[in-house]
Amino acid sequence: MQNLATTSSATQSNEPAIQVRGLTKAFRTYKKEPGFGGALKGLFHRRYEQTFAVKDVNFSVAPGELVGFLGPNGAGKTTTLKMLAGLLYPTSGEAHVLGYVPWERNDGYRRQFALLLGQKNQLWWDLPARESLDLNAKIYGIPRASFERTVAEMTELLGVKDKLNVMVRELSLGERMKMELIAALLHQPKVLFLDEPTIGLDVISQKTVREFLREYNAKQKTTILLTSHYMADIQELCRRVIIIDHGTIFFDGLLSDVVDRFADFKLITIHCDGAPARPKESLAQYGELVEQNADSLKFKVKRDRVIPVCKALLDDLPVSDIDIEEVPIEDVIRQIFAR
Ligand SMILES: Nc1ncnc2c1ncn2[C@@H]1O[C@H](COP(=O)(O)OP(=O)(O)OP(=O)(O)O)[C@@H](O)[C@H]1O
Ligand SMILES: [Mg+2]
Repeated sequence: MQNLATTSSATQSNEPAIQVRGLTKAFRTYKKEPGFGGALKGLFHRRYEQTFAVKDVNFSVAPGELVGFLGPNGAGKTTTLKMLAGLLYPTSGEAHVLGYVPWERNDGYRRQFALLLGQKNQLWWDLPARESLDLNAKIYGIPRASFERTVAEMTELLGVKDKLNVMVRELSLGERMKMELIAALLHQPKVLFLDEPTIGLDVISQKTVREFLREYNAKQKTTILLTSHYMADIQELCRRVIIIDHGTIFFDGLLSDVVDRFADFKLITIHCDGAPARPKESLAQYGELVEQNADSLKFKVKRDRVIPVCKALLDDLPVSDIDIEEVPIEDVIRQIFAR
């Protein structure tokens, strides 16, 4: 009997925190014909077009996982997060977050997740930050002592302790974002959707928010789905990434595998004793010359050519040292998005 009970609770804890199947969202957009005539015609015969913002998306996220959700502008990231937060109804498909169907807007669900939209202000604009946070706490029925403790702790960690009495509209973008983050975490959500939480922040603030999120995720085991256009965020926080484009997922796996799969080049740098006296054209045989210094050369070389090219370089030039690197992930992602 006891065995059975253990098994069943183990199975339960293995259940994904987020489970998405065939999730689809089509928007009906009004199509206007060009010119005044078109506008006039549109008054009588509205022509609509269906555009798929999200199309047959499938993925699952385990409890405590921090997953990066990447894609170019208009790929469908925010739309997906809004459906998972119950702000939008899907056109079709299913989603379960912590066992809840988000768009049923169950109160039990509302208390266990948070959505932070970096592009949108969610705090009360005309109140000092502390009062705005306080209102959030009241909405969630958070006990006073716990509220005070959390706010003190988080404002300290994020370096905005001295900004609590400033009106939200007078906060800088970075300060406001940090307050938004605190507001989102007041009720200790189990699942956190972060849509560009570091957008527009300076490098130092970006780093502070990133460190904060890393520690928070490690300590609280909160499941986090994070979008960001800053690769530093993704690289430092996410082992796993889901890449979406035109509403469809085309990669779901380890960030390190993105490089293996999509970067068909490596970078070879050779250091020479004294400048290699070779004209540029003759260097082209080794690969694309991407950097040339007094005593070093850097080539971009097709993966399957790395070994023969290294051999040839060692034979042909007075090489004193050689480095082989992966193309930076930033470049790989840019290349994927540009396709
Ligand atoms: N309310 C809406 N009505 C019509 N089309 C919409 C609506 N909201 C989003 N879309 C369209 O759906 C697509 C996906 O938008 P979404 O905001 O999800 O992209 P995103 O991946 O978050 O992009 P970004 O990186 O720019 O934030 C876009 O083509 C967008 O124009
Ligand atoms: Mg977006």
